[in-house]
Amino acid sequence: MSKTYASFISIGAYVPKKVLTNQMLEKMVDTTDEWIKKRTGIETRHIAESDEYTSDMGYEAGKLAIERSGLSIDDIDLVLCATVTPDYFNMPSTACIISDKLGIKNVQAFDISAACSGFVYLLSIAKAFIESGMKKNILIIGSEKFSSIVDYTDRGTCILFGDGAGAAIISATEDKTKAMIDIHASADGSYSDFLVTPAPGSVNPVSQKVIDKGLNFVKMKGNETFKLAVKTLTKDVKHILEKNNIASKDILHFIPHQANYRIIKAVGDALKFNEEQVVVTVHKYGNTSAASIPMAINDIYESGRLKYGELMLLDTFGGGLTWASALVIFAGKK
Ligand code: UT7
Repeated sequence: MSKTYASFISIGAYVPKKVLTNQMLEKMVDTTDEWIKKRTGIETRHIAESDEYTSDMGYEAGKLAIERSGLSIDDIDLVLCATVTPDYFNMPSTACIISDKLGIKNVQAFDISAACSGFVYLLSIAKAFIESGMKKNILIIGSEKFSSIVDYTDRGTCILFGDGAGAAIISATEDKTKAMIDIHASADGSYSDFLVTPAPGSVNPVSQKVIDKGLNFVKMKGNETFKLAVKTLTKDVKHILEKNNIASKDILHFIPHQANYRIIKAVGDALKFNEEQVVVTVHKYGNTSAASIPMAINDIYESGRLKYGELMLLDTFGGGLTWASALVIFAGKK
């Protein structure tokens, strides 16, 4: 019997219209455009409307990914959403809401929480479901309304994050040349205090104390996270390349998580990637957590830079702490 492989067959994304510039942030907190650009590379980020939710952005990105795959709604047999800013904490899952908005009925749907690593984690889950023969066409979505957990009086975090969504279809194939090559996903919970949203949850259920202390906002040990991100991402990429006997020069598109240009540059240089190989979108979208990698893939797809059969190296790092890398052939329409 021939083997079944998982193939990355389409990409889509959604960027909210409203733009938050560094100049606007200068009026909100004690910061400057110069500091933000120099320390992060970020110039703008997009922010969802107050009545535009994580599921709405995920729906738009998912719809585009389905259209571009050439499949119909009825072909989708699993819907997965990675988010740390779900429509509702706990239930229902954002994946269920997106499925309903797309008109996908009676299909398994669930969310995962792996922060910025969420999309690459989903690739590993989709690969396993497909290779086991359980599913054939999986819609995976990374969607974040990060502005809903950002404290716009905290200059250490509010300058970094933006909103948006990205989605892809992962399908079964027997053609090995279209297969995703390898995915590594890992975590270390001993660093869980580096990036945390203390409430709401079983530790801090909603209370007056939660509101008064702003425990519903994301807290980050920025500098510690920065240093560990550079070290971990570099090590992880070296490992996946060596394991698969692939050299840096064979990677057409290195697509790292878009958290800070200095992290991207340090990792890119350590791995000897040149500027043409490294995909950068952090200057315009900021850090969109689980949406960052699919939004970046969509950018190079829409600009004509990403073509059928090309090799992408994805690499990500985030709260948990979690990290993941993936070697993926883009098998979208020619
Ligand atoms: O997506 C998940 C993973 N997340 C990340 O990878 C984020 C990683 N961290 C970062 O991107 C950076 O650590 C930051 C951009 C958050 C901060 O940059 P940094 O170079 O690590 O600065 P720092 O935290 O060491 O702070 C240096 C100085 C401090 O002032 P003092 O103590 O030296 O007087 C900060 O208070 O910069 C100050 N500072 C700011 N100044 C102007 C911090 N934020 C700002 C700001 N504007 N927005």
